[in-house]
Amino acid sequence: MEQKIIVGNWKNYLNKDESVKLAKEILDEKIPDKIRVMISPNNLYLNQVNDILKQSSVEVIGQNVTSYKSSSDTGGVTIIGLKDIGVDRTILGHSEVRKRNKSFKSEEILKEVIPEEFKFILCFEGIEQIPFNILNNDFEIILAYEPVWAIGTGETASVEHINEVHGMVKSELSKLNLDIPILYGGSVNPDNSNEILSQELVDGVLVGGASTNYDDLHKIINCL
Ligand code: PGA
Repeated sequence: MEQKIIVGNWKNYLNKDESVKLAKEILDEKIPDKIRVMISPNNLYLNQVNDILKQSSVEVIGQNVTSYKSSSDTGGVTIIGLKDIGVDRTILGHSEVRKRNKSFKSEEILKEVIPEEFKFILCFEGIEQIPFNILNNDFEIILAYEPVWAIGTGETASVEHINEVHGMVKSELSKLNLDIPILYGGSVNPDNSNEILSQELVDGVLVGGASTNYDDLHKIINCL
């Protein structure tokens, strides 16, 4: 059975106590077999949240990496640093990162990440942001379609729109024999998660705001 993926991107919404409390609530959650959950706390609490959730099936992942191991990378997050705390996947190229760093190019960081087979979820809002030529099937790569106008605005993309974009990307991927799941992100909430996750072309959702409170996250995890 194909599992649908639900990623909770906590961004910088939660403080330490709130992150720990929500992680403990998630630890007690019974996750349906057809669902895979990943949680992305902010870097400050990543280690702590990972310690809580590592006994569960919930995977704790980073929100970004900036280099492999550069020691002259003030404020950066390295792959070896993440591995060191037991984290082997990260979100990459979120539009909030691209906005802060106008020269961000996924290819550059992917050249450091891919040879390490460090797993990632690459966010894109346009198909031109996907570097198809450097993707592969050697380890688990995930893509996430995140239209900027839908992020944090309460304006979710219609399923017709999501299917159109996912269909386009999937057809490019299949030409290259790439088997890569595509998530949708942008104002996913308990009211729309069932419809979005039920789409055949949607392999999961990347949830921001609604993943930061237990009630909403619980409903999304159990919506199918
Ligand atoms: P949102 O954020 O669910 O709050 O719109 C999604 C995201 O930025 O990943």
